[in-house]
Amino acid sequence: MPLEINPWGSNDVKDYEKLSKEFGIQPFEPLLKRIKEPHLLMRRGLIFGHRDFDKILDSVKKGESYAMLTGLMPSGKFHLGHRILAEQMIYHQQVLGGKVFICVADIEAYNMRMNDMGKLRDIAINEYLLNYIALGLKPEKCEFYFQSDRSKDAKKSNAFYRLVGMAARKTTFNEMKAIYGDISPGKVMSVMTQVADILHPMLPEFGGFRHVVVPVGVDQDPHMRLTRDIASRFDKEYGFPSLPSSTYHRFIKGLKGGKMSSSDPLSYIALTDDPKTIKGKIMKYAFSGGRETIEEHRKKGGVPEVDVSYQYLYSQFEPDDKKIRRIYEDYKSGKMLTGELKQILVEKLRKFLEEHQKRRELAKKQIDKFI
Ligand code: TRP
Repeated sequence: MPLEINPWGSNDVKDYEKLSKEFGIQPFEPLLKRIKEPHLLMRRGLIFGHRDFDKILDSVKKGESYAMLTGLMPSGKFHLGHRILAEQMIYHQQVLGGKVFICVADIEAYNMRMNDMGKLRDIAINEYLLNYIALGLKPEKCEFYFQSDRSKDAKKSNAFYRLVGMAARKTTFNEMKAIYGDISPGKVMSVMTQVADILHPMLPEFGGFRHVVVPVGVDQDPHMRLTRDIASRFDKEYGFPSLPSSTYHRFIKGLKGGKMSSSDPLSYIALTDDPKTIKGKIMKYAFSGGRETIEEHRKKGGVPEVDVSYQYLYSQFEPDDKKIRRIYEDYKSGKMLTGELKQILVEKLRKFLEEHQKRRELAKKQIDKFI
């Protein structure tokens, strides 16, 4: 059976609805009315699905604590794709009031990608953490940890690594193979560690039972399904009162229309790119839904649905619903040209990054509060 969503492959998901149905992901939209201040990504359908997110909303309503957990594979520059997840962490921490656990998946990265632990640590701190802080992450209600170094407190650390080891008994070779295709010892270790990442905020050593939610791209759903199954098989040893919840966001397209990937600088806007680079990248490479000639564009109009600049505005840089609708309509009708659309994005990005890069400098002084 070909794997539709492989967490270690590159994905280009075309049909989110079909995929959701196939894997039992619930639509997010019906939950919106229960959320007082939904995030832009929720309001605009970019977070499109969930499993058991209603449990988190129940916790929020009752004023009970809950945990949001996410993991990052340190690789290259921090870009707009990463920002989608960072925005969600900050939203959970500051709007919904969750405690945020951020796991640096250095064991996974070491086993699956790059065998230099020092470099992985460096990227995690200087690319990811610094940008999270600059975007607004606060040290209160936050635990930032490395898979290779969970805690200096032996009680906590033992509890975490005990869970990593014991998780293995709750799955089988055949189940792993059905989910991940070919498997290697490195994959097995990475997966067991990730299971513990997701479940450990429920352990008594880490604050005792509370619901956990993991915001992910669909490519990570295989991990969620396996973790939920493993959690349900631990009734005797741990008796987790609930399975971890998850929410699913759409991938943000790369500049040229494919995947946004740290390994191809022309596919992303990094949060450290300078204004000239950004302008050059957008003007030259951003995939356009415009027509060949101005005459044709005026006559037939552009196609915002495939236009990357429009999508960046829609998902991140034009929060005003009236304004984004206006841009959509003007572009679609041919009144607005591709160059004009791109110019709007360049200007928004320039302002945002100028501020962000200042905050990133200030963030350097704060790193110690997180690690
Ligand atoms: N596997 C994730 C990735 O490829 C990283 C990760 C590790 C993770 N542990 C996690 C993600 C726990 C979510 C929850 O990026």
